[in-house]
Amino acid sequence: MRSLLKVLSIVFYAWMAVAQQTRLSNDGASCVACHPAEARSQPHTAMAQALESTADCEILRANPQLTFRDGVYTFRIVREGDRSLYTVTDGKETLTVPIAWAFGLGSAGQTYVYERNGTWYESRVSFYKQLRGLDLTMGAQDSTLKSVEEAAGRLTSPRGAQECFACHSTNATHEGRLEVNRLTPGVQCERCHGPAGQHVRAVKTGDVKGAAMQPLGKMTTEELSDFCGQCHRTWSHVAANGPHNVNNVRFQPYRLTNSRCYDALDPRIRCVACHDPHRDVERRAASYDAKCLACHGAAKALAGGRPTKICPTGTADCVHCHMPKYEIPGSHNLFTDHQIRVARPGEPYPG
Ligand code: HEC
Ligand code: HEC
Ligand code: HEC
Ligand code: HEC
Ligand code: HEC
Ligand code: HEC
Ligand code: HEC
Repeated sequence: MRSLLKVLSIVFYAWMAVAQQTRLSNDGASCVACHPAEARSQPHTAMAQALESTADCEILRANPQLTFRDGVYTFRIVREGDRSLYTVTDGKETLTVPIAWAFGLGSAGQTYVYERNGTWYESRVSFYKQLRGLDLTMGAQDSTLKSVEEAAGRLTSPRGAQECFACHSTNATHEGRLEVNRLTPGVQCERCHGPAGQHVRAVKTGDVKGAAMQPLGKMTTEELSDFCGQCHRTWSHVAANGPHNVNNVRFQPYRLTNSRCYDALDPRIRCVACHDPHRDVERRAASYDAKCLACHGAAKALAGGRPTKICPTGTADCVHCHMPKYEIPGSHNLFTDHQIRVARPGEPYPG
């Protein structure tokens, strides 16, 4: 029955695609005719906008003059047409470079990346929405700077730069090399779903078998946690490399796995049980109650038949008490702890 539906829907879409002359591009534009729900909402998510070119950067356009002082150094970002120039001076020496890329939409912060002599640098100052201005980039509170070059930013290794772009954009690497001219900024459909050119061609010709995509929805809870963890960091990566303090609160796969709620096979605790990767994160605490009650409600049992516990204290807004928010020092942002637990007042952060 399901496969008959699939064949019918492929035949229908084949007709529709020909009628609408669907073209293939790297973002959702070539998917919208057949997957309107995903393709209309996904481009507005923070993930889809995790990287912007300087020309397209909304924050830099809206803030044509930004300044910041740290010790003897003054930092300035000034808009000139479609460019933004980053200037660092100690009063004697001055360095000016055009910003190439803006990383992050800024719900926490936005960091700038520039190129000098064929290598990539990460700016030592970032824009923070909460401050509506610049402050030091997280982890850049280094006081022993010897030159304006060092003050301006951190040199990234070729491998490091490649990793930045791989997590914040689509199609950045080709044959193991970073090729910024070919990337599409942000995490787009094909970054998660894999190449879709063959899929679209096959649908158009009614080739049911050839139209198959990787079945991401079939992944187990653990497989999906590792899948999202390729960018959000996996449990094993953090377990081996740390950090083992509040700085790991933004590594959700690690935190969630350490929670007693986690079960590698139970789909009720998958990342996508609580988050639709095609939509912006839901901010209303109450909207998560049903997710918790799927296991903790009356008469809900675990795979083994053992009943889960019911809260003696609250009946709504569960995440408010059991997924507390923490500030990573210097981030000017609160992150949600995915290690779901009874968080007693005054208790230290369980790193
Ligand atoms: C011409 C129509 C058409 C276009 C264009 C198209 N798809 Fe599809 N897609 C389909 C059809 C039909 C199916 C099978 C639907 C089903 O199984 O119910 C499908 C299935 C999928 C699935 C698998 C869903 C699942 O859970 O099995 C994914 C993922 C997917 N498409 C992604 C994309 C992406 C990404 C693009 C854009 C690059 C795209 N599609 C463009 C018609 C299209
Ligand atoms: C290719 C890398 C990559 C993958 C894979 C990935 N993410 Fe993300 N995700 C990011 C980046 C980068 C951001 C930060 C975007 C920003 O704010 O600039 C992000 C942000 C988010 C946010 C916060 C959005 C907001 O509105 O603040 C959620 C929720 C999220 N991701 C969930 C997921 C889930 C669930 C999966 C797995 C299905 C996943 N991500 C897979 C890179 C990725
Ligand atoms: C392993 C994948 C990975 C690498 C490498 C990586 N990032 Fe990210 N980055 C993410 C994810 C995932 C998030 C979202 C974190 C969250 O909100 O929980 C993020 C968030 C950010 C944010 C905050 C976004 C916001 O909305 O506030 C900035 C800024 C940022 N990254 C810059 C960079 C820069 C610059 C580099 C390289 C020097 C880099 N990242 C390398 C995955 C990565
Ligand atoms: C951050 C990763 C990510 C991105 C980006 C992404 N998807 Fe998905 N998509 C997923 C995952 C994971 C699932 C499985 C969700 C589930 O099982 O609930 C999925 C499921 C789907 C499905 C199947 C829905 C169904 O009926 O089960 C379609 C179709 C789809 N995505 C299309 C798209 C299109 C089109 C885009 C771009 C506009 C896109 N996706 C971008 C991760 C992503
Ligand atoms: C997949 C099922 C599942 C989901 C979904 C789930 N939990 Fe749990 N949770 C468990 C299990 C199993 C335990 C272990 C204790 C038990 O048997 O009840 C647990 C334990 C807890 C505990 C006690 C933890 C401790 O360290 O003593 C709290 C509090 C809790 N869950 C709250 C929540 C909240 C809030 C949500 C929603 C954000 C949630 N849970 C979602 C299965 C789940
Ligand atoms: C106002 C804060 C608050 C809210 C809201 C809240 N809880 Fe709790 N919850 C607690 C506290 C405090 C405890 C520990 C009670 C104790 O040990 O005396 C607890 C205990 C639990 C436990 C462990 C019970 C046990 O017997 O070990 C679970 C499971 C749980 N809560 C789930 C939930 C769920 C699901 C929701 C939403 C429907 C929720 N909580 C809403 C504060 C809250
Ligand atoms: C039981 C529900 C639940 C599950 C499962 C879950 N999350 Fe979340 N997640 C939340 C809640 C609640 C928030 C906070 C929403 C808010 O208030 O802004 C959140 C926020 C986020 C954010 C935004 C950054 C932040 O710290 O607020 C990211 C990124 C994220 N989750 C990724 C993931 C990933 C990756 C997984 C799978 C490993 C996952 N989540 C599993 C409930 C869940």
